Order: sequence, then structure tokens, then C-alpha cells
Amino acid sequence: MYNSKITGLGFFVPENVVTNDDLSKLMDTNDEWIQERTGIKERRHVVYGEDTTTTMGVKAAKIAIDRAGIKKDDIDFIIFATLSPDYYFPGPGVLVQRDLDIKTVGALDVRNQCSGFVYAISVGDQYIKSGMYKNILVIGSELHSHGLDMTTRGRGVSVIFGDGAGAAVLSREKDTSRGILSTHLHSEGQHAEELSLIAPGMGKRWVNDIIKDNDPNDESYFPYMNGQFVFKNAVVRFSEVIMEGLSANNLKPTDIDLLIPHQANLRISQFIQKQFGLRDDQVYNNIMKYGNTTAASIPIALTEAWEQGMIKSGDLVVLAAFGSGFTWGSVIIRW
Ligand code: ACO
Repeated sequence: MYNSKITGLGFFVPENVVTNDDLSKLMDTNDEWIQERTGIKERRHVVYGEDTTTTMGVKAAKIAIDRAGIKKDDIDFIIFATLSPDYYFPGPGVLVQRDLDIKTVGALDVRNQCSGFVYAISVGDQYIKSGMYKNILVIGSELHSHGLDMTTRGRGVSVIFGDGAGAAVLSREKDTSRGILSTHLHSEGQHAEELSLIAPGMGKRWVNDIIKDNDPNDESYFPYMNGQFVFKNAVVRFSEVIMEGLSANNLKPTDIDLLIPHQANLRISQFIQKQFGLRDDQVYNNIMKYGNTTAASIPIALTEAWEQGMIKSGDLVVLAAFGSGFTWGSVIIRW
């Protein structure tokens, strides 16, 4: 039996900065509303044709592989989490295998939205614990901006999301008191439509609908979010799943050195911080700069925190996510 540990981290965000004032030129919104409700000041949007979910993931992955001190052909398995794949199918995992020219290892796609990276880490962790693989490349990447409703109709959703990618290399660790101690995953599908993008999907007969019907008032091609309902569920589930992870390892909130919450809303992070009695320097937030990058938000935040020297060997690092599905989860790491 082994543990897995994160040996390399990397992230990539597009250069194109979109401020709240930029958005207010496209829709009826304003900087004050966005900052007050979400904490977001700006986000990155891919300039059309410059990047895709896959190419951003590949850029983040190259940095993570380099920092892990391994070669691309030491990668035994690829896991790619996203809700915004380049193609309906195949998923971006195989595109990474191709673009990085990695030997023909398995490539798995994870469709768990904001919890995607936590789910992906959990899957990778099991493969390493069982001894099946030694090094796994885990990517979270999102290109939201090409699929958002950039009119006033979509303002409740579109101001929140940003583009970007983060990646981690998970490697075998012989010391089972270090690395990933445990992961905890949940779902509650009864709320699936409260935060969703219904089309394209076979349930919508999407090819026929798009080509034949082409109804300009059909909003099902854009993300929908019942914001207040999602918010209320998020604060409860974040807390539950962090406590679940701590209890499973006989740990207490005071043992946390650094919490990296999924960057859904600064108010959610602040609520959790207060609930767990954590100082500002114990909770990493970057939603102000990047918005909600869904599956990419935790690996981007983790990489930034690591680059800033906020994570030391022996620290207890907690990752926690909540999002569409609803799905939620946590990862407890002894760094
Ligand atoms: N600019 C200006 N006004 C706006 C905007 C905007 N961008 N968006 C909505 N409004 C208006 C609404 O129309 C409404 O007006 P009304 O009172 O006249 O009807 C008013 O502002 C309040 O709207 P609410 O939706 O009630 O605003 P709320 O305070 O709930 O904030 C928000 C919305 C920020 C989305 C919040 O509910 C939230 O963060 N929810 C949780 C998000 C989350 O955790 N998502 C999970 C991860 S995402 C994933 O998994 C894909």
C-alpha cells in the first residue's frame, strides 16, 4: 500500500483580462454589484482561436511535469476534469495524450463541474494507493467565455465565470503518513437542474433543435444557475465535507494550515473561514483576479499558494469544492 503525493503543480490563464467595467458595456451590470456579491474584480477570457480547454490544460501540465522532475513518458495515466470540453466527444484527456505526445497511456475524463478537480484527484489517489500507477497527470481546465450569454439576460451567471487551467502530478509516496490522507466525495442529483447547461445534450435532441428549430429565445444553450439556492447549499456542504475529512483523520479545524476552497464566491469562502475560525493567511482566495474557473479553480489556487511559499513540508492542506450536480468533496493532504 502506498500514498500519493502532489509532486508538481502548474497553471495557465489567458492574457486577456476582462474587468467588471468591460462587462458593463455588454450587459446591464456594474463593478459595485459584482464586487459586493462575489468579490470578483476581473477574470480572463480566451481570445477566440488562441486557446482551447485542452491547450490551456496542456500548458499547465507542462509546467507541472517539469516541476515534478519527471519526463512526460513517466506519466502512467491522464485524468482531465472539465465542464467545457473542446468536443462533445472525445473528451480532452486523449487530446492531452496526443498534444503532449505521451505514450499510449489511459486517459480519463471527469465531468463533475466545480468539484471536478477534487473528484479527479480522488480517482488518481486510488490508482496510486493500489499500486497500479506511479505518476498520474491530473488537469482541471475550463473555457467558459465562449459559451456564456453575454447579454443582460445572462448576467446572473456570466459575470462569475472565467477561463484558465491548472494541473498536478500525483506520484507514489511510500510514507503513508504523508501525501493525500483521504478524499471524500458526494452528490445530490435531485438538484441537477439548479446549476446546469441543458443543451447540447441528447435529452434535448440538440442537433435537430439547433439546426431546425433555431429558437433565439431558447436559453437552454446557456448555463443556468439558481444562485441563492446554490449559495445556501454550498455553505452547508463545504462545511460538512471539510469536517468529514478532518474527522476521518482524527483531526480538528485548528490543525488546518491552509484551506484551498473552490473559488465560487468570495462570500462563501469568507463564511467557511469564519466557521472554521481560520485567519486570512490560512484561506487562499484568488477569485478577485480570475472569477470562478470551475474545475481549474483549485489547481490554479493551489499552484499560486505553493509558488508564494504558503505551503511547507508537513502542513495540513485541505481542498474543498461544491458545484453543479450538486457534487461536493474534500481532499486532506499532509504536505
Ligand atoms: N449585475 C447586476 N445585477 C444583477 C446581476 C449582475 N451581474 N445578476 C443579477 N442581478 C440582479 C438580479 O436580477 C436581481 O434583481 P432583482 O432583485 O431586481 O430581481 C438582483 O440582482 C439579485 O440577484 P440574486 O441572484 O438574488 O443575487 P445574489 O445575491 O444571490 O447573488 C450570486 C448572485 C453571486 C450568483 C450568488 O447567488 C452566488 O454566488 N451563488 C452561488 C454560486 C456557486 O457557489 N456556484 C457553485 C459553483 S459553479 C459550478 O459548479 C458550475
